[in-house]
Amino acid sequence: MARTPYMAGNWKMHKTVSEARVLASELVSELSGASAKLMIAPPFTALSAVSQVVSDSPIRLGAQNMAPEESGAHTGEVSVAMLADVGVEVVILGHSERRHVYGETDELINRKVKLALAHEMEVILCVGETLEEREGDRAETVVQEQLAAGLDGVGEDQLSLVTIAYEPVWAIGTGRTATPEDADAIHQIIRNRFSTMYSAQAAENMVIQYGGSVKPNNIVGLMAKGNIDGALVGGASLKAETFVPIATYDRT
Ligand code: 13P
Repeated sequence: MARTPYMAGNWKMHKTVSEARVLASELVSELSGASAKLMIAPPFTALSAVSQVVSDSPIRLGAQNMAPEESGAHTGEVSVAMLADVGVEVVILGHSERRHVYGETDELINRKVKLALAHEMEVILCVGETLEEREGDRAETVVQEQLAAGLDGVGEDQLSLVTIAYEPVWAIGTGRTATPEDADAIHQIIRNRFSTMYSAQAAENMVIQYGGSVKPNNIVGLMAKGNIDGALVGGASLKAETFVPIATYDRT
């Protein structure tokens, strides 16, 4: 069965509540007929407001991070139950900014992945190499290690809740996109890894997004590749005029 394209917007640390409401409303009206699976991940402070705007629309609500614990004395953290309470259905975990700026390890990310899945929260698990790792010919190894560690203890029966986002760190926010060929090659490696970790069927079914300077002018080339099933979009998800053409690329 063909994989459904999945377009997601990671708003990162942008948008006040009122700005978020405006953008979400524009997206709801402009994306009502989109055929791709859609998600937007506003900052925590805007989740509740955006939840009201996107309810009864095809746009799913995502969060950008989550605590590795159920509850308790964890100052500054937000739990899976709190996210679910405001209507979040998807959580982005292991984003490179969490890994490299805030020091999140594979082990911590794995705890979050397992906790989210235990609560039937969908997960977008991000993997990707730094420029130094790519130049040292280590991209494939790094991505495979992040996958294996991030999904340690996750059963094949839980994979329907998992999406992988390949985001090469050197392409994020830099305007440097991986070429469709380079991205597809890593996506193929990710898919193969699912084959060895799980099964050929799991590999075939896995939705793998590309992220890193995705724009309206490069989405078509990326989506033309057989192993690229969608996009995790940063900067271009902050305006309807740039996110809508990406989210509806297949109708252009
Ligand atoms: P940009 O699209 O701004 O490069 O960000 C990509 C990203 O990190 C999405 O999670």
